Amino acid sequence: MNLFEQTQQLLEDVKAFPIASAQELEQFRIKFLGTKNVLKDIFAQIKAVPNEQKKEFGQLVNQVKLVAEEKFATAKVQFSTTQQTASNIDLTLPGEHLPIGSRHPVNIVKSQIISIFNKIGFSIALDREMEDDWHNFTALNMPEDHTARDMQDTFYLQVNPAMLLRTHTSSVQTRLMEQQKPPIRIIAPGRVFRNETISARAHCFFHQVEGLYVDENVSFADLLQTLDFFVKEMFGKETKIRLRPSYFPFTEPSAEVDVSCFICNSKGCNVCKHTGWVEILGCGMVDPAVLENCGIDSNKYTGFAFGMGIERITMLKYQINDLRLFSENDMRFLKQFQSV
Ligand code: PHE
Repeated sequence: MNLFEQTQQLLEDVKAFPIASAQELEQFRIKFLGTKNVLKDIFAQIKAVPNEQKKEFGQLVNQVKLVAEEKFATAKVQFSTTQQTASNIDLTLPGEHLPIGSRHPVNIVKSQIISIFNKIGFSIALDREMEDDWHNFTALNMPEDHTARDMQDTFYLQVNPAMLLRTHTSSVQTRLMEQQKPPIRIIAPGRVFRNETISARAHCFFHQVEGLYVDENVSFADLLQTLDFFVKEMFGKETKIRLRPSYFPFTEPSAEVDVSCFICNSKGCNVCKHTGWVEILGCGMVDPAVLENCGIDSNKYTGFAFGMGIERITMLKYQINDLRLFSENDMRFLKQFQSV
């Protein structure tokens, strides 16, 4: 057989090749279209064809190639459509489970805190994370040289050193009191930033929930009742609160609030460091000077405020001992929290 006859034969082979299964389709592809296909051998011998026959021969080889490609394409479509016909699929099989994410523990606890305060008439206030000095410090009774500013290592913005990342959600208090007249009854959940060395107990960002209630005749007793309701809802009916005198520039008097240890029932454990009590928040009566700074008549109105760290409460609730876990995105940690 000369080269012409060989090629003619090849065309017949292509046409006759039976394709009735995926395997045969693959065999066909390898033989006629793969990287080492039979046509290549013929192409390699084209030099031997006399010049006057080269054109005709080239056309024949091309034809073989085109027919093979077309046959392959048609068979491929046929094959894949038979694959997908309903008769091939068992529709009664249960579906595959899609991996479902879980909510972040800080978000779970944040939602709980919000819904507890919603029940007693606190609405939500949100404001900016990038603040000016006035709303984060000065209006809150912390003028520029006030030593209390040292308590909170602040991130100032390089592009505008008059601006900073809020160090606490108390900045939402001043924003709101400037805009709204009493009665004001809000909680403000949000992210805050402090320039601290990252460790198991400190991070450069975390979350707080601020509370603020300003109206006529708001008293310390109202603050106590509100906090007592909150801790019983959050940690259980048996939970008690204890207030220790403290200091914040924007509240007077100020207190730190402990709850009876809900882990050991106050018998003494690692979480409460064998004291029976764990600290959860800071609070106090809004300092009259702060009310005045925000344009509220301090002779007519009084108010209370409180602030708590969401991570701290989450760590207590779930007995997590390293703050860094909240921002590492380790699936082994996150998957342990079921959404509620
Ligand atoms: N802003 C205080 C802090 O970040 C907490 C606080 C809020 C205290 C409101 C009293 C009243 O530590």
